[in-house]
Amino acid sequence: MGKQRVLSGVQPTGNYHLGNYLGAIRNWVEGQSQYENFLFVADLHAITVPHDPAKLAENTYTLVALYLACGLDLEYSTIFVQSHIPAHSELTWLFNCITPLNWLERMIQFKEKAVKQGENVNVGLLDYPVLMAADILLYDPDKVPVGEDQKQHLELTRDIAIRLNDQFGTPDKPVLKLPEPLIRKEGARVMSLTDGTRKMSKSDPSELSRINLLDSPEDIQKKIKRCKTDVTKGLWFDDPERPECNNLLTLYMLLSLKTKEAVAAECKDMGWGQFKPLLTETTIEALKPIQQKYQAVMEDKGYVESVMRQGREKAEAIASSTLLKVKTAMGYSMPF
Ligand code: TRP
Repeated sequence: MGKQRVLSGVQPTGNYHLGNYLGAIRNWVEGQSQYENFLFVADLHAITVPHDPAKLAENTYTLVALYLACGLDLEYSTIFVQSHIPAHSELTWLFNCITPLNWLERMIQFKEKAVKQGENVNVGLLDYPVLMAADILLYDPDKVPVGEDQKQHLELTRDIAIRLNDQFGTPDKPVLKLPEPLIRKEGARVMSLTDGTRKMSKSDPSELSRINLLDSPEDIQKKIKRCKTDVTKGLWFDDPERPECNNLLTLYMLLSLKTKEAVAAECKDMGWGQFKPLLTETTIEALKPIQQKYQAVMEDKGYVESVMRQGREKAEAIASSTLLKVKTAMGYSMPF
């Protein structure tokens, strides 16, 4: 039996931060040799909110470079760009025509983003989960690792596959395979440095709220020095009254690669004045190899482009065969 297939992606919206790394990319890297991995840049999703065309290509390119800098290895992983493969858009259309509107209207993320954007809500924002279903189902993955916030979208993906199989397949010959979600546990949910109850986010207007993967040691030091804490003495995990404390200890645990028990024991009597320099040092050291590799990769434009080209070829072959299967099942034929 071959390896199981994993598929996941991140949107190229710039400001890549510790949340993207610890919550997504690092997990892909850790498991990569056990799986056949398809990891992509979701640049079609990136235009569901207002975007700057001058930045789109740059953010896509730098995200591919970061995937490589974080340790994705082409021996195990195919890295590609969503918009390079037309099958994503085409399958989205076919799925659109079997997806009930009310399935999309009740998506939590849509409702939240729609409120934020007021008048400026486009059809693409509503359709975002259908595109995501196409991203996934095109590649027949066994597992889709995502954060908790994407859980509902994965359930929708399965619902769309079930509906398509019901309508156009037979019970013994389903058209699409149902993927299993791989939802990360809360440990990898990195919260804002200025508010421990909110996720670290690239769209937070305050730079102090997040540590970007390419931040200089001076910036990291400044941000940790000024991050929100509390006045309680001693540090411990999982206290709902102390969200910042839990977040900063979790960051330290994830970046130092120590266990939760070890960190709890090490920090239980510490004050912030002792803990903050420790977290600063650990963060700088953890990011250093990524930053060095990133500089090297960015200097070799031809290399990044060849990675995208190779990725496109491998991904396209699989995507077009799934697309053809769906089109055939739905009654399309191209006799010439
Ligand atoms: N929506 C995901 C996010 O913002 C990114 C994404 C797009 C994705 N398509 C996907 C993740 C397919 C997993 C599988 O995090």
